[in-house]
Amino acid sequence: MALVLGVDSSTQSTKAVLVDADDGTVVESRSARHPEGTAVDPRAWLRAFDEAAAPLLPRAEALSVGGQQHGMVALDVDGDPVHDALLWNDTRSADAAHALIEELGGPAASAEAVGSVLVASFTATKLRWLRDHAPGSAARVHRVLLPHDYVSWHATGRTVEPFTDHGDASGTGYYSTSARTWLPDLAASALGHEPLLPHLVEPGAVAATTPDGLLVAAGTGDNMAAALGLGMGPGDLALSIGTSGVASSIGTVAPHDPSGTVTGFADATGHFLPMATTLNAARILDLQCRLLGVDHESLGRLAMESVPGAHGVTVLPYYGGERTPNRPDATGTWHGLTPGTTRADLARAAVEALLCSLADAADAVVTQTGKSPLRVLLTGGGSRNPAVQSLAPGILGHSVSVPAEGEYVALGAARQAAWALRGALPEWPLTIDQVLDGQAVPSVREAYAQLRDLTEAWS
Ligand code: XUL
Repeated sequence: MALVLGVDSSTQSTKAVLVDADDGTVVESRSARHPEGTAVDPRAWLRAFDEAAAPLLPRAEALSVGGQQHGMVALDVDGDPVHDALLWNDTRSADAAHALIEELGGPAASAEAVGSVLVASFTATKLRWLRDHAPGSAARVHRVLLPHDYVSWHATGRTVEPFTDHGDASGTGYYSTSARTWLPDLAASALGHEPLLPHLVEPGAVAATTPDGLLVAAGTGDNMAAALGLGMGPGDLALSIGTSGVASSIGTVAPHDPSGTVTGFADATGHFLPMATTLNAARILDLQCRLLGVDHESLGRLAMESVPGAHGVTVLPYYGGERTPNRPDATGTWHGLTPGTTRADLARAAVEALLCSLADAADAVVTQTGKSPLRVLLTGGGSRNPAVQSLAPGILGHSVSVPAEGEYVALGAARQAAWALRGALPEWPLTIDQVLDGQAVPSVREAYAQLRDLTEAWS
């Protein structure tokens, strides 16, 4: 039995899974915490890798590291960080994003050049922030890596030149998703001089072999790795309800949405990964539990006591501002409360709002791929709520498959490692816990859309 090691170097922790290369069975898994915060000394991820992944390495024939997208790992000539890594969720580079979009010629030109309208998550905006706010550090930058590249390079003992893959590269803001190539001029204009960039490894290729004979695959961004772990192909739409809500699909044409709703990433297989993100997802349920003084299970039960449309109560759940639609300063809006409104209606309205918001993100992605999904996969902690499961098919207007709980990013990285080892992408079975069906209820989305459009001018 050949074993491969897949690693997810995520925002919160490093998770490592040792997997049978033939069928994807997880043999052993380990994890180690990362420091909190949106700016982190990236060497902490190397220590977490050593703790969680290194003990499993002697049993593996190949390794691949997936990781949080976008983070800026800026290194000096000795390979040491010149500054803490600013992560994807560090928003201090929002002004830099605006400036870079202007320099590119506006939002449509940004989408055309790099596949996406830049937001503060993208690496280029963080390099510009460094240039403007820590010029001494910026001047010492010799090379720039993404989090997963930095960990992969460490895993090779730095015996090779750093490398990356097209998927994670497409979240930098200095890579062309359509031409599948670096745009070093954009990295240079963001930072003030041209840094070295990791070399791009083609899908399925061996990126490096360590002196111990371990094959290392290119690795990729966490969203691309999750798509691999779920075995997604063209026609699949994945909806994830975590801290944020994510809709993504595998596309065969390079996405470029000038509205900025859909980020146009490459995937890890040579296709594309158009993706739309909502800022409010599982926390809509968390807040509703707190407001009603119930736990998640009771919230679900209450929601099912009401009716579709919650007797006229509609919520825009943009509590912490929103990205889809783009209303960064928005707050939540409740509409349609009457003297007869019940706690059950309030619970129902919150669950419907979560699903309507996710359905908007899904529509934006489907518009970019130009094809209706054949299969909808629902993942993430929020997808375990029974009311979410019960209402999802009706609001999404599609049957919904719920995969078994799993570490899909680490598993996707393992599948990429098996691909490099075997020379062909292995087919691993995906366990689907449930396939949910239900009568479509377009009226719920119509009420939501009406309120959403009516309030557009408010924020
Ligand atoms: C994607 C994004 C996040 C991070 C999380 O654009 O910013 O999903 O990849 O790790």
